[in-house]
Amino acid sequence: MKDTFYLNISTADALGIGLFKYSLFPQEKFIITNSTLAHILGYQSKNELKKEKWDSLFLNPQDKDVFLQTLRKEGKVKFFETLFKTKENKSIWVAITASKVLTKTQHEYLEGIIENISAHKDTQEILSIERNLLQSLLDNIPDAIYFKDHLNRIIKVNKFYTQGIGLKSEEIIGKTDYDFFPNEQAKQMFEDDNQVLRTGSPIIGKIEHTLLPNGTWNQVITTKIPIYDQKGKIIGTMGMTRDITAYANLEKERRAMLINALKVLGKALEMRDPYTFSHTRHVASIAERIGKALNWSEDRLLGMRLAGELHDLGKIGIPLDILNKPGNLSDLEYLLIQEHVKKCYDLIKDIQFPFPLAETIYQHHERLDGSGYPRQLSNNEILLEAKILAVSDVLEAVTHYRPYREALGIKKAQEELEKGKGSKYDKTVVDIAIDLINKNGEEVFWLND
Ligand SMILES: [Fe+2]
Ligand SMILES: [Fe+2]
Repeated sequence: MKDTFYLNISTADALGIGLFKYSLFPQEKFIITNSTLAHILGYQSKNELKKEKWDSLFLNPQDKDVFLQTLRKEGKVKFFETLFKTKENKSIWVAITASKVLTKTQHEYLEGIIENISAHKDTQEILSIERNLLQSLLDNIPDAIYFKDHLNRIIKVNKFYTQGIGLKSEEIIGKTDYDFFPNEQAKQMFEDDNQVLRTGSPIIGKIEHTLLPNGTWNQVITTKIPIYDQKGKIIGTMGMTRDITAYANLEKERRAMLINALKVLGKALEMRDPYTFSHTRHVASIAERIGKALNWSEDRLLGMRLAGELHDLGKIGIPLDILNKPGNLSDLEYLLIQEHVKKCYDLIKDIQFPFPLAETIYQHHERLDGSGYPRQLSNNEILLEAKILAVSDVLEAVTHYRPYREALGIKKAQEELEKGKGSKYDKTVVDIAIDLINKNGEEVFWLND
C-alpha cells in the first residue's frame, strides 16, 4: 500500500526512530512499539509504554484533535510536529508520520513513526531568538546600517537608513549608492566598497560629508567591513554610518571659543607692544597663504593661522625695553629674547588641539642646517608648519619696520629667503612664498588678508 511504512523494529531502533502500531477501533491500545519510542518518551520498556493510551501522549488536547481530524480526512499525516508528554510529565517535541489502516474486519489501526525533534526545535528557537535580536538591534540602532553584495548593490538596510533616505526598504534593495547620492559622492563610496572587497581590510571611522535627499549636508563617520561566506570568500560589505553633524558643530563651537580666548591673549600682547601684534597678524596671513598653496585642509589651515598669530606670544614675558631696544643687543639681552619660544610653548603646551600648535611655535626659530634655536633641530626634525612659520616670520620681519631699524622692504626679504633657501629655509616653502610675492608685484600681499 502506498505511503505505508515497511520499517522493521530493529531497523527503526538502529536509526533512533520510534515505531508504533496502535489500535483505534474496536479497542484502543498499542499493538506494537519499539524500544526507541519507549526511550524517547521516558519509559523503561516497550511493555510499560504499551499500557498508555494514544490520547494521553499529547501535551495539548487541541493538537491531538487536529492530528486525528487530518488523519480521518486524508488517511495519513506527514511530519506532524507536536509536544508529547514523557512519563515524567516533561514536554518533548516529536514529529509523527502515520497512516490509518482499516482492515476487512473493520479494525482501525494507526501505524507510523515518531521522531524526537527537540534538538532541532531548540536550534530553531535559538536561531529565531538570534534573528529577532539582530533585527531589533538593526531597527533600533540610531545609525544607518547597510549590507551590499560584491557589485555594491544594496541587499539589506535597517530602519534608520530607510528614514534617512526617505524611501521604503523595497525601493532601496537592489539599487546602488548612485541611485541616492550625488555622482561624486557615490563614486567615492563605490571606491571605498571596492577597496574593502579587494583587500579585505575594513575602513574604520572615515569622516565624510554627505548630501541627503532633503538637500541638507551632514557630517558622518563611516565604518565598512567585508562579509565572508562559509568558505572565507568575500561576498560583500557591511557598512555603518553615524551622523555626527551635531557633535561636529559642537566641536566647532568649542574650538571657536578656544581660539577666541587665545585671540584675547594676542590682544593683550598688542596692548603692550603694537609692533609685535601687527607682525604676528601678518605672519599668520602669510603662513595661511602658503598652506593654501599646498592644498591643506581647513583644519590644518586653521592651525597654521593660529600658530602665526601666537608665535611671538612669549614676548609678553620679556621686558619692553629689551624687546624694543633700538640698536644692538647684548649677548644676554639676545638670550632673553630667544626665550620667547619656550615661554610661549610653556603657556599653551597643555591645551589640546587637533594640530601641533605648541610644537610648531616652539620650532619657529629653528633652521634646516641646525643653526637656529632653541634646540638646534635640523631638517627632518622640524615640522612643515614650523618651516612655513620660519619663512613667513622672516619675510614679514625683514619687510617691515622694527624698533631697531627701518623697514628693509619686500625685495630685501626676498633676497634673504633666496640666500637661505635649502640651507636655512625649506626650498618648497621659499618657492611658494616667492611665487606669491611675484604674483603681487611690489605690493605686500598679506596686508589685504
Ligand atoms: Fe619669534
Ligand atoms: Fe616673529
